Amino acid sequence: MRIDIISVIPELIESPFNASIMQRAVKKGLVEVYFHNLRDYSTGSYKQVDDYQFGGGAGMVLMIEPIDKCISALKAERSYDEIIYMTPDGETLNQKIANRLSLYENIIILCGHYKGVDQRVRDQFITKEISIGDYVLSGGELGAAVLCDAIIRLIPGVLNDETSALTDSFQDNLLAPPVYTRPASYKGWDVPEVLMSGNFPEIEQWREEKAYEHTKNRRPDLLNKEY
Ligand code: ADE
Repeated sequence: MRIDIISVIPELIESPFNASIMQRAVKKGLVEVYFHNLRDYSTGSYKQVDDYQFGGGAGMVLMIEPIDKCISALKAERSYDEIIYMTPDGETLNQKIANRLSLYENIIILCGHYKGVDQRVRDQFITKEISIGDYVLSGGELGAAVLCDAIIRLIPGVLNDETSALTDSFQDNLLAPPVYTRPASYKGWDVPEVLMSGNFPEIEQWREEKAYEHTKNRRPDLLNKEY
């Protein structure tokens, strides 16, 4: 999979790709990530990428020209499955969206900044708009990092034990069951006995029950959700 990320502040998003699972995925060649600084596509003096909004009002708006130049240059090289714009008024990210995006070959992620982008960018180039939650960030970069992490961990071969992504919370609309590790007893707080029994069908059944119970208590809305 190839991910092209367009931003006015690429430094804000680069570091999550230099550690842990995302770094491993890049090193293994399972994902290629390219950062594009929008200023490199500005033809104006001072590398201008934003301007005041027509009609007045506070806040700068990212201009269409550098974004057009950057996206068009990328599209001239290959076709993209999705051109995503990170924005608080997009579709809220969930596991289903991450699952679908993880199957794609090439995606572009455009990070907004300031007041957002000229609406014509959204109308002409963007095929999907994603929010990471009902709150406003200073820009789309951190949202893009969250989105990339959610996608990349699902690419086969990225996690050592592939089943560990399948048993994540939200797959099957269930939250994950509790997990324990050594010591079996700590200050008198014991690990549930069934987990030490070696009886795998029973352990599996216990996990399913716990996942259901946990979901019912915390997120009953998930149990009725179509998937
Ligand atoms: N940019 C600003 N706020 C955002 C959000 N909540 N999700 C995605 N991109 C954003």
